[in-house]
Amino acid sequence: MVFFVSLLRPCIFVLIWQTRTLAVSPSPGGDCAKLLKTFAEVVSNYTYCAVNNSRPFRFCCVCEKVYVTALNGHRSIVQDNDCHNDLVLAEKYQIVESAYDFVVNLWKSSNCPACFENDKDGTPKEIKTEITEFFHKLDAVEHCFYNNSQIHVIPVPVNHSASNSSAKVLSVCDSCDKSYGTLKESYKNIESGPEGYKVCADVSASMNYTRQRWSNNFHCVKIHSDLVSVVALTVFFCFLPIIFYTSLRLQGTASKDKKLGTSLRVNHR
Ligand SMILES: *[C@@H]1O[C@H](CO)[C@@H](O)[C@H](O)[C@H]1NC(C)=O
Ligand SMILES: *[C@@H]1O[C@H](CO)[C@@H](O)[C@H](O)[C@H]1NC(C)=O
Ligand SMILES: *[C@@H]1O[C@H](CO)[C@@H](O)[C@H](O)[C@H]1NC(C)=O
Ligand SMILES: *[C@@H]1O[C@H](CO)[C@@H](O)[C@H](O)[C@H]1NC(C)=O
Ligand SMILES: *[C@@H]1O[C@H](CO)[C@@H](O)[C@H](O)[C@H]1NC(C)=O
Ligand SMILES: *[C@@H]1O[C@H](CO)[C@@H](O)[C@H](O)[C@H]1NC(C)=O
Repeated sequence: MVFFVSLLRPCIFVLIWQTRTLAVSPSPGGDCAKLLKTFAEVVSNYTYCAVNNSRPFRFCCVCEKVYVTALNGHRSIVQDNDCHNDLVLAEKYQIVESAYDFVVNLWKSSNCPACFENDKDGTPKEIKTEITEFFHKLDAVEHCFYNNSQIHVIPVPVNHSASNSSAKVLSVCDSCDKSYGTLKESYKNIESGPEGYKVCADVSASMNYTRQRWSNNFHCVKIHSDLVSVVALTVFFCFLPIIFYTSLRLQGTASKDKKLGTSLRVNHR
């Protein structure tokens, strides 16, 4: 019995060893197919997320997780040498690499890295606090806009016949002036980064859109009346010398007339 067990032991060992090696390196082709399938799925999730969050623009903040998943999906393909070098790069039409470039370019061209604290290798970690604060302030402004105008924030084609506004709009300008001011302040702080700093598109697009609503939809910008008074003052000062000299001249002729009048009167006597 003891002899039998001791004979069996190496067999069991060989059996276990074989299953382990099988689990560690399955057929390389099969593994690559799985990696490609996963990458296809994450790229598609990423693309969906990007398009779904393009208006209002929240791509960077909402799609960060899918972006990181897509990066990891590509990384696991690259790390599998057999898969990357022998199968993926050997193909003339580099669809995998093009898809990866698309993922990265979309992220960078939207200045998304500026929204995040990033790792050394550029992987976004968490949203910067100043960005979070900006969006809190934006929420307050949008809430105020909606509360005072009943016009929805989500961009819909403006229905001019339905925007029956003048009274409402006045209350928007007065009620939201303060929260709009703090939002602008917050944006200015974000904007004043180091040389060549580009504001993350989530923030710049939101600010642009809110600014347009403020001035174009609600007509809250008072630059018009300021401009009118500036022009009026300028015109006034330009004509001041002319007014001065004409008035002098008028006075001069008036006194001449007076003198003439008195001399005439003297003659008359
Ligand atoms: C893609 O998105 C779907 C739905 O959000 C999710 O169930 C799935 O796990 C995602 N795929 C990957 C590979 O992350
Ligand atoms: C698409 O975006 C909207 C908000 O813009 C969100 O409510 C919805 O859940 C998103 N769809 C998916 C599948 O994530
Ligand atoms: C909405 O606006 C009204 C007056 O314009 C104000 O009394 C009310 O507190 C506002 N509500 C919120 C939630 O801001
Ligand atoms: C625009 O407003 C008018 C008047 O309220 C309404 O009859 C029309 O259906 C609206 N159009 C759209 C596209 O909402
Ligand atoms: C504009 O709004 C007022 C009340 O807010 C309403 O009485 C009036 O009928 C509206 N006019 C149009 C053209 O919708
Ligand atoms: C703001 O939006 C307008 C129109 O939506 C666009 O033409 C302009 O380029 C935008 N500006 C910035 C700084 O994004």
